[in-house]
Order: sequence, then structure tokens, then C-alpha cells
Amino acid sequence: MAFKVLVLHGPNLNLLGQREPRVYGQVTLETINQSLHNLAESLGVTLECLQSNHEGVLVDAIQGAPSHAQGILINPAAYTHTSVAIRDAIAAVSLPTVEVHLSNIHQRESFRHHSYIAPVALGQIAGFGAESYLLGLRALVAHLQKVASA
Ligand code: DQA
Repeated sequence: MAFKVLVLHGPNLNLLGQREPRVYGQVTLETINQSLHNLAESLGVTLECLQSNHEGVLVDAIQGAPSHAQGILINPAAYTHTSVAIRDAIAAVSLPTVEVHLSNIHQRESFRHHSYIAPVALGQIAGFGAESYLLGLRALVAHLQKVASA
């Protein structure tokens, strides 16, 4: 089966490249999506990528995911630390979900140490810049393949 993964980027990630480059690097969201598509192709999966600054749009996308995707790769950005709604949506659809962050949120301000998403995620990858997304996609696809072959 050819898996499809929904890739979600939360608020302000549309500004990557110009936003706090010392924290988030120079890479743009477009480049991250391109690298994800390249990796997806080599792994034999397809992707749908969406960025939104709006919590409800992300909740709607998660709710709609089971009709066309088998897993979710998400950088919830600031909503990581605030959104019970996104956490509940992930719990509701129960699709395997990997949480990723460019920065190491545990090394930063204390308000970034808590994630509402982590308890409902398969795992969390943080601190590797754009590589966090690629590691997250590899981990998610490996999980999907393992479950499918069990
Ligand atoms: C982030 C970390 C969050 O704390 C922050 O609000 C972001 C980006 C990251 O990728 O490092 O917007 O999710």
C-alpha cells in the first residue's frame, strides 16, 4: 500500500527564512516541503502539506485526515504549548502522529518545555533544524510499514 502523510505546519512557520534566523535557521518553508517531497518519493509515500496560522484550520485538517491519509507529521509551532483543541483532534482521529520542532524546545524558555501534543503523538523530534522534519517522516513511515506488515 502506498501511504499518504499529511504534513501540517503551524503559525508563523510561513515566515521561516526571515523569522529569527538565529533560532530557526535560513531555510524557508518551501525548501522544507521540497526536501520532504524528495524524501517521500524515495520512501515510496506521498505527501500533502498545509501551513496555517489558524488553530481551527489545523483542527479541520486533522479531522479530515483519515479520509485520505494514514499518518500525520506536524510542527504545531506555538500551538504546541497552548492547544488542547489540536491535541484532542489528534486523539480523536487516532492516526499515528509525529511531532517535530526545528529548535530544541526543551533548551529554550520554560513555557516551551510543555507540549500538549506529545502525549498523543507517537514521538517527538526537536532540535535538528529542517532535519527534524526529515527524521520525523522517516520515523512515521517506518512505523506505518511495521504496522502494515505485522
Ligand atoms: C517551534 C518551537 C515553538 O516553541 C515555536 O512557537 C515555533 C516553532 C520549532 O519548530 O522550533 O513557532 O515549533
